[in-house]
Amino acid sequence: MDLLKELESLVPELERGLGQASSLQELEEQRIAFLGRKGRLAQVMAHLPELAPAERPRVGQAANTVKQALTELFEQRKVVLEQAKEAAALSRFDPSLPGRMPWHGSLHPVTLVMEEICSVFGALGYDIVTGPEVENDYHNFEALNMPPEHPARDMQDTLYITESILMRTHTSPLQVRTMKSLRPPVAAIAPGKVYRRDSDITHTPMFHQIEGFMVDHNVSMAELRGTLTSFLRTVFGGDTRVRFRPSFFPFTEPSAEVDISCCICGGKGHVGNEPCRVCKTTGWVEILGCGMIDPEVFKSVGYDPEVYTGFAFGLGVERVAMLKYGIGDLRMFFENDVRFLSQFA
Ligand code: PHE
Repeated sequence: MDLLKELESLVPELERGLGQASSLQELEEQRIAFLGRKGRLAQVMAHLPELAPAERPRVGQAANTVKQALTELFEQRKVVLEQAKEAAALSRFDPSLPGRMPWHGSLHPVTLVMEEICSVFGALGYDIVTGPEVENDYHNFEALNMPPEHPARDMQDTLYITESILMRTHTSPLQVRTMKSLRPPVAAIAPGKVYRRDSDITHTPMFHQIEGFMVDHNVSMAELRGTLTSFLRTVFGGDTRVRFRPSFFPFTEPSAEVDISCCICGGKGHVGNEPCRVCKTTGWVEILGCGMIDPEVFKSVGYDPEVYTGFAFGLGVERVAMLKYGIGDLRMFFENDVRFLSQFA
């Protein structure tokens, strides 16, 4: 085999091959075929030991020259292909297109409603207080006039950590904690998460409540009514009607549940010809529980029930948000679908 001839033929062969390589990948394939460890050049050079020692330097030199020539050819072709690739990319790029808007975060509707309610009561001079979600039996039940075996405990079954430590079932323990640490006059609002053993389309095992309470000399049911009526009209609109129905809570006496005129149908009971599904055609929706703080609770916290009176109320934040924003399904609050959440930006 004439190695010199073989070597010389590599250059024109590669020139032909490169003309056909139309992508950087094909170019690389060609490079491996010619200059790779088992490529054409290496194959020719494998025969070098067969030559007479005197001939080897000449052939070796020729091989170097050919290698250089091949490498240069590749480099040239590479530049051409790279430029073509860039030009193609640029031709697809339209600099006149509008830019992408950066994403804006938004507050969760539950947070929005909690902040709104806190700011309404904050403006009335109420303190904002918080407390532990892992609560003991004493604050959650006993000090609120629900001794062990009290039947009202059944309605608020929850997750127990131990026999006497549980996830709080309502924000009312904050009445006890706050009153124990302050002397009247006390006016406070307590937002937070609460837990119940409840899960269906209208109940979740965790939801949010806001507790409010005020204690002083001569606090009356009339003040409770006035405070709640004006609060509800601030949140749901000035023409909202408000009604109080007698009810029962162990920690208030007397107790009431409060309804507002349905904000979905405007209290008419139907939307156009359709029956209103939110108020079930009654025109009213229940919005909160309230009452005058029971003397037994005052005794638990060391307030003299002969000297002080007070009112308390508790409301469900998700429920307020559903009515306020017309959200039909409680589960939407917990799915964190960005299409839903971004509507509150
Ligand atoms: N804690 C009660 C509940 O969760 C609501 C309530 C609070 C009622 C304060 C009266 C006074 O159902």
